[in-house]
Amino acid sequence: MLDLQSLDYAPATAARPLLTDVSLKADIGRPVLVAGASGSGKTSLLEVIAGLSGQLRGSIRWKGRELSKRQRRWLSGMVFQFPERHFLGLTIAQELRLGHRRLDSDQLQTALDTVGLTALRMSDAPERLSGGQQRRLALAVQLLRGAELLLLDEPTAGLDWSVRADVLNLLSNLSKQRVLIVVTHEPQLFHDWGCERYRLRNGCLEPVTTLPGA
Ligand SMILES: Nc1ncnc2c1ncn2[C@@H]1O[C@H](COP(=O)(O)OP(=O)(O)O)[C@@H](O)[C@H]1O
Ligand SMILES: [Mg+2]
Repeated sequence: MLDLQSLDYAPATAARPLLTDVSLKADIGRPVLVAGASGSGKTSLLEVIAGLSGQLRGSIRWKGRELSKRQRRWLSGMVFQFPERHFLGLTIAQELRLGHRRLDSDQLQTALDTVGLTALRMSDAPERLSGGQQRRLALAVQLLRGAELLLLDEPTAGLDWSVRADVLNLLSNLSKQRVLIVVTHEPQLFHDWGCERYRLRNGCLEPVTTLPGA
């Protein structure tokens, strides 16, 4: 489905390459978890896939076809670690309707229910939500867009344990119909999650075959 081959990413502004010879395959029904320390290149990897970065070398294919940056922006639903920096709507309803003015309130509510955001006031500002709720809202926006490739940057950061279990369940459910890639600096929280595991170190990606610490 998604097939990254030998990606090199070395923006002129960086002292060293941010990604080196990165290859990765991801399919529907099998989420991918990329673990790595802070600064290892996790966010850069998602930005490259999502068509948000500068020039790179290597190929990014989807269903066997090489995609342009613009096509990847269309395909990808990026959920940033700090979504509030990217909100455009003045209200939750406006944010959900971005690019989809005709969505009725039932459709908006269904998307919010899917991501576990119930009992919100549609007229509230997105900035009033907690960090975890903001990430859920950003995810709901991508579901309404119909993004076939979901890219989640640190989806568990700052969440308490009970909420984290909900997030893992949600991601498993979403991955049944979409390609899903999660990057995290806390892979221990995902230890019993069914997924393909990779580790990123200084921009180099390798598959993980045994559980960390096992
Ligand atoms: N466009 C850029 N130009 C220069 N340096 C960058 C750029 N983007 C990221 N970096 C640097 O590359 C490294 C990896 O960043 P990032 O992908 O955000 O890592 P992570 O998400 O794993 O913490 C960091 O040292 C960061 O400061
Ligand atoms: Mg990051």
